[in-house]
Amino acid sequence: MLILGIESSCDETSAAVLADNFEVRSNIVLSQDEIHAPYGGIVPELASRQHIRSITWVVEEALHRAGTSIADIDVLAVTQGPGLIGSLLVGVSFAKGLAYAFDKPLVPVDHLDAHIHSAFITNREMMFPALALLVSGGHTSLYRMERKLDARLLGRTRDDAAGEALDKIAKFLDLGYPGGPIIDRGSEGGDPGAFSFALPHMSDGSLDFSFSGFKTAALRHIRRSGLNAESPRLADFLAAFQDAVVRSLLSNLARAVRENRPRSLILAGGVARNRRLRSEFEAFARREGLAAHIPDPDFCTDNAAMVAGLALEKIAAGEKIGFDPRLNAYPRRFYEK
Ligand code: KG4
Ligand code: ZN
Repeated sequence: MLILGIESSCDETSAAVLADNFEVRSNIVLSQDEIHAPYGGIVPELASRQHIRSITWVVEEALHRAGTSIADIDVLAVTQGPGLIGSLLVGVSFAKGLAYAFDKPLVPVDHLDAHIHSAFITNREMMFPALALLVSGGHTSLYRMERKLDARLLGRTRDDAAGEALDKIAKFLDLGYPGGPIIDRGSEGGDPGAFSFALPHMSDGSLDFSFSGFKTAALRHIRRSGLNAESPRLADFLAAFQDAVVRSLLSNLARAVRENRPRSLILAGGVARNRRLRSEFEAFARREGLAAHIPDPDFCTDNAAMVAGLALEKIAAGEKIGFDPRLNAYPRRFYEK
């Protein structure tokens, strides 16, 4: 069986072909970074318009690289939400049109569940219960999983997502967009102790995250030390800011581990590409004697392989599939801000 996944929830147009043993035959990701970079963030209308331009080529390329054609695809999968509604509608409409014209079933997939399950594409064996830390540009949340396809929310950000905080500070310093990878590289050789950042404290004892305090502290450091893109202390500052974000993510994870006693840990989402976060997460898991699962970097940022992968997971679990002419996109999950 072959499945074609389509993802267009934010600013990446992506299509992937997977076989039913989860082998990734192709995973094409067309980034819009260059289009949004002059604005220092995503411009939703430009994102939708670019998806419309790119999606036919991206899907054709995914089929071509997989050595197949639409006629030989058995099932389609598409991201239904959450995300930018204009962007989502492009992928959903395109997938519905293809499925309708070629008389194929279409499996709708939740973007956050797809991120969480990206860890399962290459790690088929996972011990449960597991805790999943999802860190992206739009979301920062912690989940408990008793089994696959069952993620219960333990905590989420009350303000910015971690990736959003990294992107905003990079924008403020005129370093470029997206800020996450720029800070990852720019912090190399920097001293994380050179600038101090206090970890947020949730007085209600919840496992929620908050990154707005770091942002305020960062702006104060920038003004006081007169930091800019050329400063000799820039690497120190970026290392300290990145370290604060990583420490706060891991401090919540540590508390969740004490309260939930999981057997394995999952790290997912675009920020899971961050080298400091990956190494600190692995070191933490080792200290706790837990298995750590982090997807390959290409499956961390938005991609369609995780969409097709989650649909395969659902089919394997016996979910009924078909074509629903009423299928629509949704911008938010019910618990989101
Ligand atoms: O998962 P994703 O592609 O899109 C959303 O669903 O939000 O995540 C994008 C986020 C951006 O904020 C970007 O700056 C961040 O992931 N990111 C990184 C790195 N690569 C991407 N953050 C830190 N270090 C990286 N290497
Ligand atoms: Zn995403």
